[in-house]
This record gives sequence, structure tokens and C-alpha cells, in this order.
Amino acid sequence: MASRILVPWALAESGREVLKKSRLRVTYLHGPAGELPKLEELVQAVKEADVVLPRGGQPVPREVLAANPALRGVANHGVGYDNVDVVSATELGVPVTNTPEILTETTADLAWALLMATARKIPQTHNLTVSGRFTGPVGHPFMGMDIGPGGSNLPKVLGIIGFGRIGRAVMRRSKGFKMKVIAYDPPLREMIEKTPGVEYRELHDLLKESDFVTIHCPLTKETHHLIGRNELELLKPTAILINASRGPVVDEVALVSVLKEKRIFGAGLDVYEKEPQLAPGLAELDNVVLLPHIGSLTQDTRNQMAIVAAKNAVAMARKKKPRNLVNPEVLTRPEYLQKVSS
Ligand code: 8YV
Repeated sequence: MASRILVPWALAESGREVLKKSRLRVTYLHGPAGELPKLEELVQAVKEADVVLPRGGQPVPREVLAANPALRGVANHGVGYDNVDVVSATELGVPVTNTPEILTETTADLAWALLMATARKIPQTHNLTVSGRFTGPVGHPFMGMDIGPGGSNLPKVLGIIGFGRIGRAVMRRSKGFKMKVIAYDPPLREMIEKTPGVEYRELHDLLKESDFVTIHCPLTKETHHLIGRNELELLKPTAILINASRGPVVDEVALVSVLKEKRIFGAGLDVYEKEPQLAPGLAELDNVVLLPHIGSLTQDTRNQMAIVAAKNAVAMARKKKPRNLVNPEVLTRPEYLQKVSS
């Protein structure tokens, strides 16, 4: 019987084409407006699948992975894969793939746009203009912060947390703004130290020194609430915090109180702890720019992500080694070997 690929969301046409051309059996499971299935529906549907292709942020817990002992792949659509219980997947002999690289520049663009929009209060001043309140010179509540050397003629300090592909792409963007760049990423310390124009800092030193702090690390047990109340209190009163990685890296409730107390200049967020919900009070603040998780949301990038995820799904359905494997150790597990040899 031909392999079955379960797509429990509205995958882009480019990815559907790849799946169609593979001639494998494909099941789409989502509501008419693209609503994601409930967990119980996913558990039921996965029993009939060889490979599942979820979107980023769509939970794939052990319950789903264990529902089908013959499951031989999770092709996640997204570079982040914190939505998938990878430890259980490996234990159960299920390879997991992601879609890295293609979205690096797009996500770095968005982080940079967020940084600039927060520093110069772009959405706030746009709202002022379109609401008819631009009736004369605009002053204090809309006063921004320099990104380049600006009026003080002093270079601004950019602190990058997470020096992976996206963090490095953000660093490249800062060059045109003559910034001093410092970075924190313990596993990549050597890379940071070898990169011209960047200096390594421990987390607390980075927070104290930066004018802008931008977060680009994955969500793991180690990075959950990496930025809590104590860390936020180390920031300068003029500092701006940008998060386009994963919401739970920042304690959002603590961030709301720090912003409310005007202990920092502002925050630009594309991600939240309990997406799509925002922490109470966050949306009412005037020193934030809040985006609905659009880091990789451009036509070309999303089309390519869909193609890569679909190709990974097809490879796993055909019992081949996929590209972009995030748990390569699974390949030697007896549970996996049994699935691909039968
Ligand atoms: C998407 C993302 O929101 O790639 C990621 O990790 O956060 C985004 O590209 C999502 O994963 C799309 O499925």
C-alpha cells in the first residue's frame, strides 16, 4: 500500500504540488478556514499515517507520536521544532526534520524591522497620522531612540542572544548602522570569538551594556525564561528588547511590569509565551510594537519552506534518510531500523 502523509494544516500550494507529484497518498486535515485539528483528531488521524507534516507551533506531543507504532517521520514546517516532543520521537524511532536556512534572511529582516519600528515608534506615529491627530509638530510621547550613532555620535551597542544563522544575519544588518556588536551563546562561544566585529559577553554583562538586545535562540529547557525579572532589571532605562525567536524565552508577565514601570524604553515582539494570547496588559502599553508571529511570512520564503517540508516528508515516507534531520541519532535506534527494513 502506498505510504500516507498526513498534513494537519493548510500547507501552501508549492508544498502540495511536491506531495502530489510523489504519488503518495496524502490526507489534509483542517477546518474550512485552515483551523488546526484538535489533539484527539490528530491522534486518531496519525494512526493511518506513515509521516506527519505539521506546521511550526502545532503541538506534536508523545501522545501523537505513540499513537502509531509504524510512524516513521515528522516533517516540521519551520526552523524551530519546540512544538515536537523530539526526545519521545527519538525514543520511538521517529525521525524529525525542520526547514532551516531558507528563512534565515527573511526572519532577520523582520527582527531588524521590529528593532527600527520600536526605536522610532513607527506604528504609534502611523496611528497618530491616520487618526487625524497630526495637527501640528509632534513631540515628546513619540520621541525615538537612535539606531545609528545619531545625535550623540556614539555607536549603539547591539546585544545578540543566540548566534545561530538568524543571529548572525541580524549582525550583518547592523553593519550599516555602525553598531558595536556583542553576543551571548555558550555553545557557540568559540564561533563568536572568531567572528570579526563581535565580542563575546556573558548574559548579564550583555544586558547591562546593550542599547538593543535581540533574541535569536531556540526554545529549550535551558532557554525557557532566560530573560526573567532579574535580567530585565539589568537593562539600561534606554534599552530596547526585541524577540523574534520564541515567546517563552522571555517571562512575558515580568516584561509587562518592567515596560509599565518604564524601566526600559520599549520592546518589539513577534512571539509570545502563550500564542496567540498576549500577557494581560501587554496590548495596552504605548512602548511596545507587537506583531503576530510573522518572522518568516513572505511569499517566497513560505513557498520554499513548504517545498522543503514536503520533500522531507516524501523522503521519510519512502524510507530514505531525509535532509534537515534534527535527531540524527534516531537512525541507529532499533525501533527506527525495524520500521525502515520491513
Ligand atoms: C513559523 C517559525 O511561524 O520557522 C519557525 O520556527 O517560527 C515560523 O517560520 C512556523 O514555524 C511556520 O510553520
